[in-house]
Order: sequence, then structure tokens, then C-alpha cells
Amino acid sequence: ADHFREIVTLDGPAGVGKTTMAKRLAGALGIPYLDTGAMYRVCGMRLGEEGATMPESAIMEVLRSIDFALEGSGAETKLLVDMHPVGAEIRTERVGMLASTVGTLAPVRAYCREAQQGLGRLTPLVAEGRDMGTVVFPDAAHKFFLDAEPEIRARRRLNQLKEMGTSDLPTLEDLAAQIAARDHQDRTRSEAPLKPAEDAVIIDTGELDVDGVFERLLQAIKAKS
Ligand code: DC
Repeated sequence: ADHFREIVTLDGPAGVGKTTMAKRLAGALGIPYLDTGAMYRVCGMRLGEEGATMPESAIMEVLRSIDFALEGSGAETKLLVDMHPVGAEIRTERVGMLASTVGTLAPVRAYCREAQQGLGRLTPLVAEGRDMGTVVFPDAAHKFFLDAEPEIRARRRLNQLKEMGTSDLPTLEDLAAQIAARDHQDRTRSEAPLKPAEDAVIIDTGELDVDGVFERLLQAIKAKS
């Protein structure tokens, strides 16, 4: 694990368990993980609802004021925004939708892609998101696409929100509808849509528990290394 010097990509829809797996895998490999959804969430919060209709120059000005960095490694990796760890306030479904919406904008994608690639030049990474294997790290050594039925994903996301002590818990029905709308937007956007890379290993996480998925990932990495 000490000598792992490559990029691993984990892509997939919302609530499929990417962040959980990225943390575990990063811990096993002794490298940082990069939660690129958190980067889009921060952009969504900074740009706000107006982001989608702002002139490009105004968008760029907001983006230029956002500085991303990584600290630590494994499950303890911290994503820093302007030197501060990202807070729990980005984890709501409202901010998820904002992230998805600003993630359709070309300048936002370019800004995040360049920031992600810049981090990837500094350190090996487990990079998780929507377009890691297809667009951001097309030469990654190991690519995975995690998938599961929408209902399973909604239930998992609801449990996560409960564990985080979220006060305004959505109903399972509402959450499933919100996740479906967000996935649709992520899959149908023109730039960097959510889809598996041609050379990605696809794993259905609906049939497996966390340990099962983790074993599959590790086995595939060992087999190719
Ligand atoms: O992984 P997440 O649910 O935190 O991501 C929030 C949104 O950010 C997601 O719905 C779409 C966008 N996103 C993206 O466009 N590209 C990525 N690599 C990661 C996230």
C-alpha cells in the first residue's frame, strides 16, 4: 500500500456509496480520496440559485475566489476550501441539486476539472464523482462505476442523513424523487454526463454489503497491479 502511486476512479449516481468506498479504499491504499461532489456542492452554494442565469464573467469571478486543497490521507482526508474543511451544510439534498445544476455550466466544469487534475498531479488519489473515469482522469490505472436501484440509493441516503443528525429529514418518497431528478439532470447534461467509462469495472452495489463491495474493488485493483 505504501507504494501505491496511481489514480483510482469511482463514479456513479447519487447515494450509491461512493464516498464510503472512497474513504475505505483510500485508507487501505494509504492515499487521499477526493470527494468531487463536495467541490460541486461548494460551487453550488457560492453561486446560488442565480448561478444558472449569471453571465459567464460573473461565474468566473465567483469561481476564482474558491481555492481547493487536500490535507491528510485515507479516511481522514480533509477537503479544504479557502483553507477551511468543508462543513456539513453542503450535505443537504437542496445543495445537491444546486451542485447538479451548476455542474451543467461549462465554466464550472472547467474550473473543477482543472482543480481536480491539479490535485491529481500532486498525489495519487481515489477520486469519486460522476466524470472521473471519463473526463477528468481518463488515464486512471483503475476505474470503477458503482450502481444500484434508485430505491436502494434513496434508503441509503436517508440513513446517512439520519446518522449525520439532520434536523429536517425528508420522507423516503420525497428523497427518492429528488435523487431521481438529480440523476436525470446528471445523466442528460451535454458536458461530462454521468456514465461509465468504457474501461470501467461496473459493480452493482445493491446485491452486496459494504464489505462485499470493498472486497470486489480491492481484488480488481490487486489483479491489475
Ligand atoms: O456526489 P454528490 O452527490 O455529492 O454530487 C453532487 C452533485 O454534483 C451531483 O448531483 C452532480 C455534481 N457532480 C458532478 O457534476 N461531477 C462530479 N464529478 C461530481 C459531482
